[in-house]
Amino acid sequence: MVINTSQMALLLLLCLLGVASASTSNEESFIGVNIGTALSDMPSPTQVVALLKAQNIRHVRLYDADRAMLTALANTGIHVTISVPNDQILGIGQSNATAANWVSRNVIAHVPATNITAIAVGSEVLTTLPNAAPVLVSALKFIYSALVAANLDAQIKVSTPHSSSIILDSFPPSQAFFNRTWNPVMIPLLKFLQSTGSHLMLNAYPYYDYIQANGVIPLDYALFQPLQPNKEAVDANTLLHYTNVFDALVDASYFAMSELNFTNVPVVVTETGWPSKGDSNEPDATTDNANTYNSNLIRHVLNNTGTPKHPGIAVSTFIYELYNEDSRPGPVSEKNWGLFDENGVPTYILHLTSAGTVLANDTANQTFCVAKEGADPKLLQAALDWACGPGRVDCSPMLQGKPCYEPDNVIAHATFAFNSYYQRMAKSLGACDFKGVAAITTTDPSHGSCVVLGSVGRNGTFTNTTSLAPSSNSTTTSGCPVPYSAPVGAGSFTASLIMCVLVVSMMAL
Ligand SMILES: *[C@@H]1O[C@H](CO)[C@@H](O)[C@H](O)[C@H]1NC(C)=O
Ligand SMILES: *[C@@H]1O[C@H](CO)[C@@H](O)[C@H](O)[C@H]1NC(C)=O
Ligand SMILES: *[C@@H]1O[C@H](CO)[C@@H](O)[C@H](O)[C@H]1NC(C)=O
Ligand SMILES: *[C@@H]1O[C@H](CO)[C@@H](O)[C@H](O)[C@H]1NC(C)=O
Ligand SMILES: *[C@@H]1O[C@H](CO)[C@@H](O)[C@H](O)[C@H]1NC(C)=O
Ligand SMILES: *[C@@H]1O[C@H](CO)[C@@H](O)[C@H](O)[C@H]1NC(C)=O
Ligand SMILES: *[C@@H]1O[C@H](CO)[C@@H](O)[C@H](O)[C@H]1NC(C)=O
Ligand SMILES: *[C@@H]1O[C@H](CO)[C@@H](O)[C@H](O)[C@H]1NC(C)=O
Ligand SMILES: *[C@@H]1O[C@H](CO)[C@@H](O)[C@H](O)[C@H]1NC(C)=O
Ligand SMILES: *[C@@H]1O[C@H](CO)[C@@H](O)[C@H](O)[C@H]1NC(C)=O
Repeated sequence: MVINTSQMALLLLLCLLGVASASTSNEESFIGVNIGTALSDMPSPTQVVALLKAQNIRHVRLYDADRAMLTALANTGIHVTISVPNDQILGIGQSNATAANWVSRNVIAHVPATNITAIAVGSEVLTTLPNAAPVLVSALKFIYSALVAANLDAQIKVSTPHSSSIILDSFPPSQAFFNRTWNPVMIPLLKFLQSTGSHLMLNAYPYYDYIQANGVIPLDYALFQPLQPNKEAVDANTLLHYTNVFDALVDASYFAMSELNFTNVPVVVTETGWPSKGDSNEPDATTDNANTYNSNLIRHVLNNTGTPKHPGIAVSTFIYELYNEDSRPGPVSEKNWGLFDENGVPTYILHLTSAGTVLANDTANQTFCVAKEGADPKLLQAALDWACGPGRVDCSPMLQGKPCYEPDNVIAHATFAFNSYYQRMAKSLGACDFKGVAAITTTDPSHGSCVVLGSVGRNGTFTNTTSLAPSSNSTTTSGCPVPYSAPVGAGSFTASLIMCVLVVSMMAL
């Protein structure tokens, strides 16, 4: 057979397409985080984004399409799933124009600077807002056609998160099916997800399955902990072994879809997690259990383990949630699903070691000490002199020509020195006060080539926290020219610094 050039080109194209589709099915799974905002003291969008960056969180889901938040996420490379709130489903599901308007205001206004990759239309609509169910699929289709019109349909997927409670008889997974009441919605929905290459969005909470099972489900099985072989769950129909509830729930959703003859719609878990605190009648909502669940979950998802039914198929997952939401109504557990408190301090240190990966524990609890904005420059100078003197901070990186010389002002220099002292004091309480001109922050004050102690470099390695000025007991009282409490003279920072360095290095000889 003779192949001419255009046939050759076609073959090559088919070949490339084949490679492309093969690589999408081997897509890497990611861990994302949900950002609920029911906090009495909600951090600003800039603070939220600083925390995401410090924790290397690359995927987030918002429960709305807040303009300030989307603006703060611009040019960060963070992938964002935005949401149509439930109270807008009826309007959007009944009007193509309303949907187009929503997309224009909340999507087109922000892309491509903000990398919006998915739109979650509503949240658990079938179970929480059943009267909107009849227009749910229309809402998805209208949003989708507005994306098509803006040529954004290839990069932004449209779906709707479901509560796993719409899946009935979920164990053994092979017998699971969607509550048939919802077939008139689920069938057209799955057709839509299939034809647009989108995902089934599933909220899966082994915590609730565990507490509702009244002891039938072992805690270790819910927490992804190793099980004794006699406690492993086996699906008698498929002989697949289940070592954790999460996999069983995801497989139940695959089986429920295949019961409706949909076999190629991937699953993304839009919510899962474990509360770290609860009422007296919620004894399993503990810090240890939450840490175990989320640490094991992250390892499981990032390992691309897949599930027993679909080994190796990505099940990307969003942890519920970034912050503890103290303003949420309900039991104590409801307010304690967060990985962080409102100050960005971790609720617990996850058992994850590999530096640079999402939420790895060696990058958690990253706090820095900085000069307070608006602090009196004279007090700052005095504190700076103390830190570089009696405080024995190595202030040489701030000498002219050294990485932290610029910007040459007291705020920047004080920040460097305060932070060095704070990190050396193992972030102990009181090590970041400096008579009230210093404050703890989660935002890394490193800039340019000036990398501060305790910072996690772009390649995920800690900067050297041991490189400090030589320490000697005798310098604490007499080593340096300007004691912390003394009034500030006219002597410039650099002069006192040089003297200090000289004195200290002479003493070290
Ligand atoms: C958005 O994310 C996708 C998926 O990772 C990536 O392919 C694309 O280049 C990103 N777009 C922008 C503008 O960063
Ligand atoms: C909705 O509007 C889009 C253009 O934005 C159009 O292509 C589509 O046909 C409309 N759909 C319906 C059902 O009216
Ligand atoms: C199925 O869904 C309907 C409508 O929400 C509900 O009334 C019914 O109890 C559900 N069935 C089961 C077995 O949960
Ligand atoms: C699924 O396919 C089988 C076999 O073709 C058919 O008998 C069944 O009715 C289909 N189910 C649905 C919900 O379409
Ligand atoms: C990671 O995946 C491999 C197979 O791909 C599996 O053998 C191993 O148990 C998995 N590890 C974890 C922690 O899930
Ligand atoms: C984070 O660091 C602070 C300061 O050292 C400490 O008080 C706190 O207990 C740490 N938090 C966790 C969760 O370890
Ligand atoms: C990080 O996790 C590893 C492995 O579980 C553990 O040995 C280590 O102590 C953890 N680090 C912190 C600071 O908790
Ligand atoms: C990566 O780490 C090395 C030290 O291990 C450091 O010298 C280098 O500057 C780091 N790179 C970045 C981009 O932070
Ligand atoms: C870290 O500091 C120690 C002690 O000052 C030094 O021996 C070591 O070489 C430093 N490591 C790096 C990577 O700079
Ligand atoms: C300072 O002296 C005390 C008591 O002599 C000693 O315990 C301590 O380790 C010394 N500290 C340093 C930094 O040398």
